[in-house]
Amino acid sequence: MNRRIKAIPPSLTLAINARAAAMKEKGEDVVSLSAGEPDFDTPQPVKDAAIKAIREGQTKYTASVGMPSLRRAIAEKLLEENGLRYDHTQVFVSVGAKQCLFDIIFCLCDEGDEVLVPSPCWLSTPEMVKLSGATPVLVPCTEEKHWQLTADAVKKAWTPRTRMIVINSPNNPTGAVYDEKELTAIGKFCVEKKIFVISDEIYERMVYDGRKHHSILALVPELREQAAVVGGFSKTWSMTGWRVGYAAAPKDVVDACDRLQGHVTANTATPSQHAALAALVLDDSSTDHMIGEFDKRRRFCVDRIRKIPGVSCVEPHGAFYILIRVNGLYGKGVAGKKVTDSLSFCEALIDREKVAAVPGVAFGAPDHIRISYATGLAMLEKGLDRLEKFVRGLA
Ligand SMILES: Cc1ncc(COP(=O)(O)O)c(C=O)c1O
Repeated sequence: MNRRIKAIPPSLTLAINARAAAMKEKGEDVVSLSAGEPDFDTPQPVKDAAIKAIREGQTKYTASVGMPSLRRAIAEKLLEENGLRYDHTQVFVSVGAKQCLFDIIFCLCDEGDEVLVPSPCWLSTPEMVKLSGATPVLVPCTEEKHWQLTADAVKKAWTPRTRMIVINSPNNPTGAVYDEKELTAIGKFCVEKKIFVISDEIYERMVYDGRKHHSILALVPELREQAAVVGGFSKTWSMTGWRVGYAAAPKDVVDACDRLQGHVTANTATPSQHAALAALVLDDSSTDHMIGEFDKRRRFCVDRIRKIPGVSCVEPHGAFYILIRVNGLYGKGVAGKKVTDSLSFCEALIDREKVAAVPGVAFGAPDHIRISYATGLAMLEKGLDRLEKFVRGLA
């Protein structure tokens, strides 16, 4: 085994999902609150575009970095919606935002480099950094500051080895939407210290309570020569299985990713690219409807969690996740089994109440568990009722 792959743990989210799936298969009434994908269907015109492409024989390789028409449409979207001007040659398309992130990190980082990762964080980011040979350095975000990343925390974590920072707002798993002032201060610091910025904006449309999503690249235009914006189709258009993501970056970075992709995956599936092209010209109605539903569920969950004794949560303003603080219950137990950390909490929760949640330790939040509200209200109600029953049964 390669020594880098040996250092990568399996995904705890996938482990919990697999356990929930196995229980469901046996006919058990499992409530899954661990999903990382919208429960809505892909919009019909998007599916139709892929079917049409297949019927018309659009089933061959494209350029590794995607069809020029899709890259052009993404460049237009970035200008219109995000205020970021890119030529289509500075845009590349990949197998999900995931591959875009991996490509950029892998192409730009080396052994000896440090990469700042605000924490709690999406569990794949530190692992991608490790695969590149660089070292992830977690930058603490706290509940007191509503999980906001602060410029002070970034400055404290900086060392002369800092090569990159990966910012993710709206954030998975905290639901934080970083504010304009902090993002601007962080961006200016990155310019001063020549830190490459990746802005993972995959949840850009999922913001609530009148909050606004800000791209750090638009707030600090001087960053543009040392930054990449990453986005995708998985969340906004419920297209997780189609595997299309994109990034815009300086031309030399795109060229490096092109070389890497050319040897590793080549293009993402051609029919999926046609689907993505159709998604970009859709009106906002399906996405707006989904976000309206997420917002109702978010408010329901926050109210309901606050009624459960012994747990708490910070109200999230973005994405579709909530971190629930459960460490006040560590040390208690049920039926002779002690809950000592987020992992044993989630294991006992699924064993006793058949509710799947993700242990916060997977995200660098050992005092919490993560639930997702990308599931219907009836399920959420059932899941949170069971969580309350579980918590009340701990002694
Ligand atoms: C923060 C974050 N970035 C990137 C991704 C990757 O999305 P995809 O590869 O499906 O486009 C995810 C998926 O859950 C995510 O949560």
